[in-house]
Amino acid sequence: MTRLSVNINKIATLRNARGGNIPNVLEAAKNCERFGAQGITVHPRPDERHIRYQDVRNIKPVITTEFNIEGYPSDNFLQLVKEVKPHQVTMVPDSPKSLTSNQGWDTVNHKDFLKEVIKELHSEDIRTSIFIETAPELIRNASKTGTDRVELYTEPYARKYPVNKEEAIEPFIRAAELARELGLGLNAGHDLNLENLHYLKQNIPGLLEVSIGHALIADALYYGMENTIQLYLRQLI
Ligand code: PXP
Repeated sequence: MTRLSVNINKIATLRNARGGNIPNVLEAAKNCERFGAQGITVHPRPDERHIRYQDVRNIKPVITTEFNIEGYPSDNFLQLVKEVKPHQVTMVPDSPKSLTSNQGWDTVNHKDFLKEVIKELHSEDIRTSIFIETAPELIRNASKTGTDRVELYTEPYARKYPVNKEEAIEPFIRAAELARELGLGLNAGHDLNLENLHYLKQNIPGLLEVSIGHALIADALYYGMENTIQLYLRQLI
């Protein structure tokens, strides 16, 4: 089974555009679960321009499925996740100013740093995942950090999919095979949508989780959140 974890950052972005509490991020998280999502993902950034640290604290007690917190493992971030204790932390190497995550970890040069962080998170019983691109060297070095899982950064797949889906998926199939051989659990995310999700799922056996935000929240504007979540779940059968 591949779990659908809905990234609700965009709900917070909309709320923050006006101040106040519309739309309500906590209600949105609960509704996503009620409509079938098997997890909730948030990505608190240092400037709190979408999900705020306090949102993260408030969400944990009201959701009943898997909670995944993504972010750069700064001291503040680590303090937050140790307090909140989500099921999973996905480490992302993005700089504070980046619009969205736009690269995976260089696990060769940051292996020791990641190892330390992962040890710290494991001591709090938090599962870890490293956001990563598909090069074999990166996957091999990820496995040396002790991480439980890797999340394949699917933006290059999504970009190429409309032009040549066979070519688009090829490096992901190889990365997934290697990750499995090394005993790493496999997640995927970024730029997944109703067009490209099913093909990814079909070609990557053992995919444990996808986290999807931008396209899913945009689709909810057209189809409604309940319908949209059901549509995404159907791509994962
Ligand atoms: N995975 C990671 C690590 C991310 O940073 C993001 C974006 O916050 C996503 C998945 C979801 O990407 P999208 O919003 O394009 O679905």
